[in-house]
Amino acid sequence: MGEYAIGMVGLGVMGANLARNFVSKGFSVAGYDLAADKREAFDRHAGEGDLKSFADVQEFLGALEQPRRIILLVPSSVVDEAIASLKPMLNKGDLLIDLGNSFFGDTERRAVSLEDAGYYFIGSGVSGGEKGALRGPSIMPGGHREAYALIAPAFEAIAAKVDGDPCVTYIGPRGAGHYVKMVHNGIEYGIMQLIAEAYDLLKRGVDASADELAAAFRTWNQAELNSYLVQITGEIFARRDPDTGTPLVDIILDEAQQKGTGKWTSQNALDLGVPTHTINAAVEGRIISGLKAERIEAAKVFGGPKGGYSGDRGEFFEQVRDALYVSMLISYAQGIALMQAASKDYDYDLDIADIARIWRGGCIIRAGLLEDVRKVYTAQPDLPNLLLASPFKEAVEARQADWRAVIQAAVGMGVPVPGMAASLAYFDAYRSARLPANLTQAQRDFFGSHTYRRLDRDGVFHTEWEA
Ligand code: 6PG
Repeated sequence: MGEYAIGMVGLGVMGANLARNFVSKGFSVAGYDLAADKREAFDRHAGEGDLKSFADVQEFLGALEQPRRIILLVPSSVVDEAIASLKPMLNKGDLLIDLGNSFFGDTERRAVSLEDAGYYFIGSGVSGGEKGALRGPSIMPGGHREAYALIAPAFEAIAAKVDGDPCVTYIGPRGAGHYVKMVHNGIEYGIMQLIAEAYDLLKRGVDASADELAAAFRTWNQAELNSYLVQITGEIFARRDPDTGTPLVDIILDEAQQKGTGKWTSQNALDLGVPTHTINAAVEGRIISGLKAERIEAAKVFGGPKGGYSGDRGEFFEQVRDALYVSMLISYAQGIALMQAASKDYDYDLDIADIARIWRGGCIIRAGLLEDVRKVYTAQPDLPNLLLASPFKEAVEARQADWRAVIQAAVGMGVPVPGMAASLAYFDAYRSARLPANLTQAQRDFFGSHTYRRLDRDGVFHTEWEA
């Protein structure tokens, strides 16, 4: 009989840090990786608790307590391969847990095939990066409830805590955990784009220095914008390049990369018919940033408005803060609406209040406002849009004028604010009892006899427009 409580396949930094977190909470961990350097690095932490690496898969599996609890932390491209190589050596009732950023559709497929074969499978999102893995991540597990029960005590032990409350909960069946992690990342993309736009507006608009930006973000992090991403942004502005002494942010190439989770969110929102303007704008923002060489050429071809912001400088900082806050709320609102739609379409039975609860700590989108989100959805689980509830309704109303002023200023200065503008367009469309879609319907009927419905009577109508 094996003695290790948890097996870890993939001993990269995330795997090793999670293992260290487990052993610090009293769970022994056996690690497996083909790479000798990773095993050596892993074993160097042996002094921190009961952990050991194995180079031989049979020995590794033999070292685990039964039923085995095996965590996969391998690149998403090799999850199928890893499962296929382990599966013939597993016993019925063993539990496999994919903690990588897998696509939820792949997790659905794997869950069905492993469960049909008598194994337990959990597809779980983990957020918080490498530091979070070590100090306490937010964990979003999906699968069978019985499967989750096998790992729940260990996950609760290593998760981030908010007032002692662990940032982990059972999310739902099959791919639900990875689905929620995907939406988390979509919201993350939205917020990161919005923060980048606030930076651009203040830099190009009022020539804000990195020190001023660091101070502004630090101050903002003390109030309603309190969040991990605003906090680290302040720290980033304060960092100087040791070689040149210039703010490090100024010499970082302006091309944002992506691994795909934000794009998946937008693609899925299109599939489910849920408007996610802010998240979509963020994905596009990264894509256009990648056209660096073309942008350099286009900058030579086209002029634009000259000069920065002509109004009061201090007031502009405050307006940008307000526009950022409201737009950020909209990124959360869109992500939540998407999860609600997915919950129905995929039978995930998601508990939005509980998801907000476990996002309050450990994850990249943790923010003070999530406690209010939790309260709102506890009181009204089927609330159709976060913006409709107090205190968010009042927060948007109070900042609406500043939000519009910032976008007007951005347009006037020629500073692109696709995330903020998309957020405002979403809001304006959402609060419009009447949109011009009547004309779209008339056009569809004109060229394709697609029919339309009328406001003044029931039924489906067609007009011979060219008669
Ligand atoms: C997290 C992060 C994490 C990772 C992203 C980066 O929640 O800890 O979201 O999952 O940093 O995958 O994604 P991009 O490379 O697409 O920016």
